[in-house]
Amino acid sequence: MTANRGRIEVIAHRGASEDAPEHSLAAYRKAIADGADALECDVRLTADGHLVCVHDRRVNRTSNGRGAVSALELAQLAELDFGSWMGPAGTAESPDAADPERTTVLTLERLLRLVAEAGRPVDLAIETKHPTRWAGQVEERLLDLLRRHPVPGEVRVMSFSARSLRRVRLAAPDVPTVYLMQFLLPRHRAGRLPAGSGIAGPGIRVLRRDPGYVARAQAAGHRVHVWTVDEPEDVELCARLGVDAVITNRPLTVRDQLNRL
Ligand code: G3P
Ligand code: CA
Repeated sequence: MTANRGRIEVIAHRGASEDAPEHSLAAYRKAIADGADALECDVRLTADGHLVCVHDRRVNRTSNGRGAVSALELAQLAELDFGSWMGPAGTAESPDAADPERTTVLTLERLLRLVAEAGRPVDLAIETKHPTRWAGQVEERLLDLLRRHPVPGEVRVMSFSARSLRRVRLAAPDVPTVYLMQFLLPRHRAGRLPAGSGIAGPGIRVLRRDPGYVARAQAAGHRVHVWTVDEPEDVELCARLGVDAVITNRPLTVRDQLNRL
């Protein structure tokens, strides 16, 4: 267990996704090099049952292909370019050379291996996307992968779906779970989360409107992870409120700002 280090944890949202294509191996390598405490990723099931790190239901925005992740097999996804949408591939020395670490679809298994080889404990915050559609398969595959590829840091499962978190809690009570919220329903206001979730995951807009939420959730026994915290004034707000973790596209600058506050 590496959380609660007595400082605000910096979680890299889809990797260092402002510097490299989101969810690419390059983005996660950069986040580790930037000093991120943890890595966030979204996972989806392919047609042949692999968990891949892709945010959207369809691959259209982040690749040169079309279609739903769930309708494509891993081999088909592996043929697509998931990086060039962000800008020219390659390095400064060789701008035209494609860099497979920027462009190849990333499996969760590969990400777990990267984290295992990081040389220091790096936590993981894995978000199940639209898991209800798969009737438990996403959580089952996820927990199976975690058992087969242990990592030195803490692994949390996050979701907007209370049902997904309940499934995780029933199958693996020792895995911490984060309930993500775009807004606060009346039952959340006092810090009450759905069964199966132990950590509150409010969006930054929630805190801007209701800063007292952090103290209420913590008094109810929950850690508070806030997403997506990129702007200096939001970092300052989170620091002032004493949140437990910030999820950011800019791990380097956010860590630096937090160190200076
Ligand atoms: O970290 C939580 C955050 O990632 C949820 O929103 O749309 O970026 O997956 P989204
Ligand atoms: Ca996410």
